[in-house]
Amino acid sequence: MTSKAGNTILLVEDDHAIATVMMAALEDEGFAIEHCVSMRERDQWLQRQRFDVMLTDVMLEDGDGLASMDAVRTIAPDMPVIVLSAQNTLDTAVRASDSDVFEYFPKPFDLDEVVQAVQQACGARGGHDTSNALCLPEDDGMPLVGRSPAMQGVYRMITRVLRNDLTVLVTGESGTGKELVAEAVHQLGSRRSGPFVAVNTAAIPSDLIESELFGHEKGAFTGAIAQAIGKFEQANGGTLFLDEIGDMPAEAQTRLLRALQSGRIRRVGGRQEISVDVRIVAATNKDLVPMIAAGTFREDLYYRLNVVPIHLPPLRERREDIGVLSQHFLAQAADDGLPRRQLTTDAIHGLETRNWRGNVRELRNVVYRLALMARDDLIDAGHLHDILGDEALAPGGSEEQRDGGIGQALGQWLHDHSPASGTVYAQALAAFEKPLIEHALGETSGNQLRAAKLLGINRNTLRKRIGELRIEPERFSRSA
Ligand SMILES: Nc1ncnc2c1ncn2[C@@H]1O[C@H](COP(=O)(O)OP(=O)(O)O)[C@@H](O)[C@H]1O
Ligand SMILES: [Mg+2]
Repeated sequence: MTSKAGNTILLVEDDHAIATVMMAALEDEGFAIEHCVSMRERDQWLQRQRFDVMLTDVMLEDGDGLASMDAVRTIAPDMPVIVLSAQNTLDTAVRASDSDVFEYFPKPFDLDEVVQAVQQACGARGGHDTSNALCLPEDDGMPLVGRSPAMQGVYRMITRVLRNDLTVLVTGESGTGKELVAEAVHQLGSRRSGPFVAVNTAAIPSDLIESELFGHEKGAFTGAIAQAIGKFEQANGGTLFLDEIGDMPAEAQTRLLRALQSGRIRRVGGRQEISVDVRIVAATNKDLVPMIAAGTFREDLYYRLNVVPIHLPPLRERREDIGVLSQHFLAQAADDGLPRRQLTTDAIHGLETRNWRGNVRELRNVVYRLALMARDDLIDAGHLHDILGDEALAPGGSEEQRDGGIGQALGQWLHDHSPASGTVYAQALAAFEKPLIEHALGETSGNQLRAAKLLGINRNTLRKRIGELRIEPERFSRSA
């Protein structure tokens, strides 16, 4: 990109190290820069001269730079603003987009990306529309927590879809927070006064999906004793969340695509086409791309849904969030009437090193279990171990070592359970069977029928083993 020599930037940043680096990079690109450290100075500069772009930190010496954005807008109504923030929460990301900022960068940011955004902003100046600025309910607890770089990426993507109706496809393993993202898109976006309707296409028998989505007229099929309104119509004016979209049967995919393309639906057995105004958020824990190649997911539907992709990484790839998530769930548990507990740093460390195959859902369930079963209000590492046992604990060491393979784990197991202890073979099988079944239940949100399918065993066998191994299937259910 060519440099925009002659453009003037106002940099509001009280961290001198960051300011120095920023100024050097921008000067290299031919920008003229004024630098100040407070909101008071900022407003003086803005009154004195015209700037092409303002770059600003959020927490400044004399207060919250975002909260005072109205003042900036009064003086310089259409100056693009780029926000650099160390307050890496969804709240900050949303407030930034609420203040109609051009771009938001959580710290630490990539300098090149920021410089590029400044260049774009100089080009885009004047094209700003502030007419549909969002007004959000103040201080409403944000639904998603976690400040890992991965979650900041998610927050940025969420803020990009709040003022439009673009279709969002949320991907990630089971329990990573896909449904919560869909809810956030709805609650924080311009459709929040409309309905949020969720439908899990995997949970509906395939012959009923059409009726579930589009409704039916009385007498449309045996059992259709009255007219029914489908999810599309229920979601009119709001958001329709299509969960587990990767499990949708082929025929339903075709009908869904048709509805999305035309914006119209027809109830089963109905004659008339009905216009519906819905924003679609779809989610799946499947990788749809190989499914397209295998012919099990329609390519055209994929492109129709994957307009704005939001990917949630598994919890094991953002372990730095486990501490705040645990605190968050302890507080939730207390609000739900469980005893108010605290975790020691060592206990949090213990949680950080577990496997979390069930992701945030599993962490939430574990924290609730801790809140319920703890001996006293402060939970320490030993206590954590007593309650959770260690079968799910990730062996210590680096990620590579942890993934050292089942052979290594078996070797350890044999070593720990010498033949003298008798039934090594049966014990070893049981030791592996339990986590395997729990994993399958985690993957299927506790749906035993689907878990049995996943494992390739009979449903009744699964039920029997769940009982014998004392697994609690409710732990994995989606509402838990
Ligand atoms: N970032 C997060 N912050 C707070 N709670 C979360 C977060 N991610 C997930 N959860 C909680 O974890 C559970 C599972 O999330 P959910 O959205 O149902 O996952 P998915 O749809 O991906 O299976 C829910 O109770 C949800 O509220
Ligand atoms: Mg889900």
